[in-house]
Amino acid sequence: MIKLQSVLVLSLVLFSTTGKSQSGQDDQQATVIINTDQGKEIISRHIYGHFSEHLGHCIYGGYWVGMDSEIPNTNGIRNDVVDALRKINIPNLRWPGGCFADEYHWMDGIGPASERPKMVNTHWGGVTEDNSFGTHEFMDLCEQLGTEPVICGNVGSGSVQEMSQWVEYLNFDGISPMADLRRVNGREQAWGVKYWGVGNENWGCGGNMTADFYADQYRRYATFCRSYGKNRLYKIAGGANSADLNWTEILMKKIPHRMMDGLSLHYYTTNWSNKGSATEFGEDLYFDVLKRCLRVEEVIDRHMDIMDRYDPDHRVDLVFDEWGTWYNVEPGTNPGFLFQQNSMRDALVAALTLNYLNDRCKRVKMANIAQTINVLQALIFTEGEKMMLTPTYHIYDMYKVHHDATMLPLSFESPAYNFGDDSLLAVSISASKDRDGIIHLSLVNIDPENSLPLSIDLRGSDEKRVKGTILTSERMNSYNTFENSREVMPAEFKDAKVQKGRVELTLPARSVVVLEIL
Ligand code: AHR
Repeated sequence: MIKLQSVLVLSLVLFSTTGKSQSGQDDQQATVIINTDQGKEIISRHIYGHFSEHLGHCIYGGYWVGMDSEIPNTNGIRNDVVDALRKINIPNLRWPGGCFADEYHWMDGIGPASERPKMVNTHWGGVTEDNSFGTHEFMDLCEQLGTEPVICGNVGSGSVQEMSQWVEYLNFDGISPMADLRRVNGREQAWGVKYWGVGNENWGCGGNMTADFYADQYRRYATFCRSYGKNRLYKIAGGANSADLNWTEILMKKIPHRMMDGLSLHYYTTNWSNKGSATEFGEDLYFDVLKRCLRVEEVIDRHMDIMDRYDPDHRVDLVFDEWGTWYNVEPGTNPGFLFQQNSMRDALVAALTLNYLNDRCKRVKMANIAQTINVLQALIFTEGEKMMLTPTYHIYDMYKVHHDATMLPLSFESPAYNFGDDSLLAVSISASKDRDGIIHLSLVNIDPENSLPLSIDLRGSDEKRVKGTILTSERMNSYNTFENSREVMPAEFKDAKVQKGRVELTLPARSVVVLEIL
């Protein structure tokens, strides 16, 4: 089997195995060729972005504890969470939703907190939202994190005027009703928000619109989202649900490309008819989830084919602004809060997805995992004063070396990971060169039982030292808890050797390894 990165691999059934039995290991060494002097495309750091919604305990209890809390905080925002997210250089944060965005009225979230109106969060548990976390608190969070805000405006139940005024409030520095109101609320300078979503899932929770209707609405709303001063607004059209190619086709056809910088797309790794447990699974569901994860490649490629037809010059970026695993909620928790555990299987989903997005960085310029804290494929869990990191967090930590690095083209032969009559490619690889010329490889082996020997030919390079980090686990469903938060932890990987531009290593079963080659 040969997998050529940047070449469509649509049907895994086309690949025959290399003689490996269902649980057996062949002795053949997979060979990887990396052209270290041929990189052209930059892997935008925004591919490593995040999504945080007013949902369950993502915002409240996750980031926000309020200024009177005994949990250490700065202006009401947890210090432990900010420290953890700063460590992975979180490049952007999408807010306030999600479905919540299209019922959120931003003016309810400014001014003295005690005077802010309350609302019902109808999508997520029907709980009362007291609006104590609003625009100023979110912008303060972004400043503390050193990250770019990505704000999603309300098309579904909001007006053009409301959205236009929010942009003015955030971004206009002169004298105007909204800029003056911002000053009354304690902020002199405009924030200069760049990334602006015009609605969310408008085919569903964002208004149940048809693609034609939304395309017209987008043109109207986007017209009045102005760029102020030197800050050019980057406008993102609400995109399709997974395989809905028609949505992308209509938007690419009907929206002038000069009005749209990004077109979004959502894809969740889930079986909607039976989501299963985040931790209680055998190899059948392990395989099933990884197969659904890898399907994202075909889904995104097909949307990008449509974009290529209408926009061969790549004026419009693909913004993959919601993705991740979605299981049943943990027993005993509020079904509307979408709280699920996070195991080694989720770490593999993250690593496979990020490797693929790196490879498609020519069109994919932003992606946001759903959701950062306590919701869906979270990186962080909090409970009262406690905070812990999930296996997915560790992937983001290990992969931060790819931020804004040059993607290196590669090709490789991978053995299959077989289960029953089905098979998947066992290995996924991404390579990049950073601004200091250091090469990083992220290597994934999804085979839960077998380690895989690899030989990597670094063409155009004679680097002599290699350092590595590995994330693996005792079981395929190992996970961290508050009691045992180090069950799945990165460790130093010492088993790679480099000599004369060739790296040799054996990738352990169900592992992710990131190598630094200098
Ligand atoms: O991430 C949870 C929800 O999934 C979001 O609110 C919505 O956009 C999507 O359907």
